[in-house]
Amino acid sequence: MRGYQRLELPTNNEPETVRRQFAEDVLVGLSERPRRLSSKWFYDDRGSRLFARITDLDAYYPTACEREVFERHAGDLLDRFRGRPINLVDLGAGDGRKTAVLLRYLVERDIDVRYVPIDISEGAMAGLVESMGERLPTLPIAGLVSEYFHGIRWLADQTDRTNVVLFLGSNIGNFDKPRARAFLRRLRNALNPGDHVLIGFDLKKDIEVLLTAYNDPQGVTAAFNLNLLNRINRELGGDFAVDHFRHYGTYNVFSGAMESYLVSKEAQTVHIEALRDRFTFAPWEPIHTEYSYKYLPEDIDDLCDHAGFEGVGAFMDSRGWFCDALWRAHG
Ligand code: AVI
Repeated sequence: MRGYQRLELPTNNEPETVRRQFAEDVLVGLSERPRRLSSKWFYDDRGSRLFARITDLDAYYPTACEREVFERHAGDLLDRFRGRPINLVDLGAGDGRKTAVLLRYLVERDIDVRYVPIDISEGAMAGLVESMGERLPTLPIAGLVSEYFHGIRWLADQTDRTNVVLFLGSNIGNFDKPRARAFLRRLRNALNPGDHVLIGFDLKKDIEVLLTAYNDPQGVTAAFNLNLLNRINRELGGDFAVDHFRHYGTYNVFSGAMESYLVSKEAQTVHIEALRDRFTFAPWEPIHTEYSYKYLPEDIDDLCDHAGFEGVGAFMDSRGWFCDALWRAHG
């Protein structure tokens, strides 16, 4: 079995609807002070390719750290699922390379696993199903093209398998703390008692390491951030002169988040056709684009309690830079 199905969506992901939501978000965000654009719009085709390049950079440590966690602790993480059929449910799998480490461990030990990536994009799903199928030809794959919670609720209704939901790569860090709590609580409510979640948290560490990771010397992170302006130009008929802005990544010691900005290098006015509007920027005016929250182990425990899970284990890389937390939904 290798494929995916499209669930009837309560939300509409047709390209024209997505474009309208993008236009609405850009209008609201550029009208606020300070201005902001949501990081959720980073991931058009070019943005996704740039993000994949970021994850290969030496400076961007989270990907290598999480892979090391899986290589070091696969047995501690997964042996508990021996003897019961599981769905390994992957939210935001990207290219699936890290998930493949876990899947290979399960397949090689004949643990009854079915891989269930969930993604709203049918294009991303088709690519992932194919590449994972080539990596692990005997692995059953049953992807869901769906919004995350709708897909998880649908799976939880089947009840024939324990669901182990992966939310890897520090994706949780892109939510501010209240939204992270709300997201995990919703996740808990969508699952059955006894289901598990495995969440990747980037830990607080030396600020120089953080600054280098989000201001890499090759400039890939800068290109990734600036691509948001290219996307507005392409999809909404904007006339941003992208080289008149610069990427700026900084660490907020109070909130514990890396923050990314696009900063206008000069006074300028930008016209966006789809909004029938102009936006005037003062010299050095910032647009906030992303939060990447960093955690302490005790913050992770608080989040676990608050969301209604029971902590089962916390697994770290050798440097103690990254933590994958395994939680069980209370009975
Ligand atoms: C996807 N997300 C967890 C990345 C992060 O670290 O916040 C996105 C990223 N932004 C800059 N570099 C990588």
